[in-house]
Amino acid sequence: MKKTLSLISLLTCVLLPLISVSQQVVNPLLQSGPMLGYSDMRESLIWVQTTSEAEVYAVYTDLADAGASRQTNKVKTNKYEAFTARLIADTVEPGHRYSYELFINSKLVKLAYKTEFSTSPIWKWRGDPPDFTMLTGSCAYINQAEYDRQGKPYGGDYRIFTQMASQKADFMVWLGDNLYLREPDWNTWTGIVQRNTHTRSLPELQPFLASTHHYAIWDDHDYGPDNSNKSFANKNQTFDAFKLFWGNPTYGVGDIKGAITSFQWGDADFFLLDNRWYRDADEINRDNKTMLGEKQLGWLLESLVTSKATYKIVAMGGQFLSDASSNVEAYSASGFDKEREQIISFIYQYNIKNVIFITGDVHFSEISVLKQENKPAIYDFTFSTMTAGVNTKGDTWKNTFRVPGTVVMEHNYGMIRFSGPAKARKLNVSCFNSDNKKMWEQVFGQE
Ligand SMILES: [Fe+2]
Repeated sequence: MKKTLSLISLLTCVLLPLISVSQQVVNPLLQSGPMLGYSDMRESLIWVQTTSEAEVYAVYTDLADAGASRQTNKVKTNKYEAFTARLIADTVEPGHRYSYELFINSKLVKLAYKTEFSTSPIWKWRGDPPDFTMLTGSCAYINQAEYDRQGKPYGGDYRIFTQMASQKADFMVWLGDNLYLREPDWNTWTGIVQRNTHTRSLPELQPFLASTHHYAIWDDHDYGPDNSNKSFANKNQTFDAFKLFWGNPTYGVGDIKGAITSFQWGDADFFLLDNRWYRDADEINRDNKTMLGEKQLGWLLESLVTSKATYKIVAMGGQFLSDASSNVEAYSASGFDKEREQIISFIYQYNIKNVIFITGDVHFSEISVLKQENKPAIYDFTFSTMTAGVNTKGDTWKNTFRVPGTVVMEHNYGMIRFSGPAKARKLNVSCFNSDNKKMWEQVFGQE
C-alpha cells in the first residue's frame, strides 16, 4: 500500500508539471484565447489570437439542440492586426447556451477547460426580467521581469482569475488598467502589441476568457503612461490595440471617438466611458475642466435620461463619488469637480433612478453612496485591484460617501447579482478576495 502511494505521489510529482505545461502548449499556433466578447440576442463574438498567420474559425452547438452545429466566419490572421481574429456566431437564439470548438488551419484545438457561451435573454413583453450575474474588477498587472522596475514585483498571485472563472457569471466588465504599459511599450506599435499579447496570454486567465463574456473600458495604464490625459501622443496606436484585443460591441459611439460603448443585459443598460481620450491634464488649473469631453458627456446624459432600463450602470476608470482629497485622479479632484456636479444635478433634475457607477483605479475596493432627501440615490461600486500592488492606505482616505465596512485592501474582484420580480428588483453586491472568500455583501433594493 505504502509502495503504491509513493508510486502515485512520484507519478503525480513528475506528471502534473508536464500536464500543466502541455495544457499551455495545446497548439503551437494558439497564442491566447479563445475569449468571449460581447453577446446579444442574435449574435455573439468569439475572439482569438494566433502566434503567426493562420486561418481560424469556431463551430458552435446549441446545448438544447445537440444536432445543430454552426460555423462562424473564417479569419486569416495577420501581423498587422497582431494575429487577432473576431469570429461571429450569427445563427443563435436569445437566452440559449452553446458549446464551441476552435479550429486553427482546419485542425481542432483541444482545450482542457470548458468553452461555452450564452446569448442574452429576450424577456420584454414576456414576463419578469431575468436574473443574471456579472463580475467586475480592475488593475491586472502581469509581471515580466526584464521590462519591469527592479525589486519586488508589482504584480502577482494570478489565482484570482481561476476563482473568477469558477463563479460562472454571465459576463465580466474590466474597469481599466486591464494591462500595464511600461516604458519600453507605449511609444511603439511593437511595444504596445507585445504588452497586450503578454498579458492576454497568461495561462491562469485562459479558462476565464473562454466561458465568460468580456467587456472592457480602459484607464491610464492601458491607454498610456501613469495618469496620462488627452495629450498622450501615441493614443491612436493604443486605441488601435484596444480595438484589436477587446471584444466590445463598438469602439466609440457615432462620431464620438474613444473606448466608449453601450450594451444591454436583462433590465440593465451599460454605458462604458473613456476617461482618458478627452481628459484635461490633472496639473492644469482652470475653470470648466473636462474629463469626458463635451460630446461624450452629452452622450452620457442623454443616454441616462433616455434609458428605460431598471438599472443604468456607468463604467469609468476613476472613482466618481469619492471626495477623498488623497485621490488626485478622482472626479472630485484636480478641478474636475464641476463636471461631476453637472452629472449629479442632471440625474436629480430628471429624477433618474438606479444609476450606478462602477469604477476602479485606486487599488482598494469600497462602495460609496450619495443619498439626499427626495433625490434618487447614486451609487459608486469601486473594485480594485485584481493582481497589481495593493493600496494599504485606502482605509485612511477620507471619503464621506463610503459605506462602512466595504474597504478591502487586498487583491479582489466584485460580483453583482441582479434578481427579483419587475419593480422589486434587488442587487446583491459582493467582494471576493483571491482565495474566493467573500469579504462582504451588500444588498440594495430597487428605487
Ligand atoms: Fe491600476
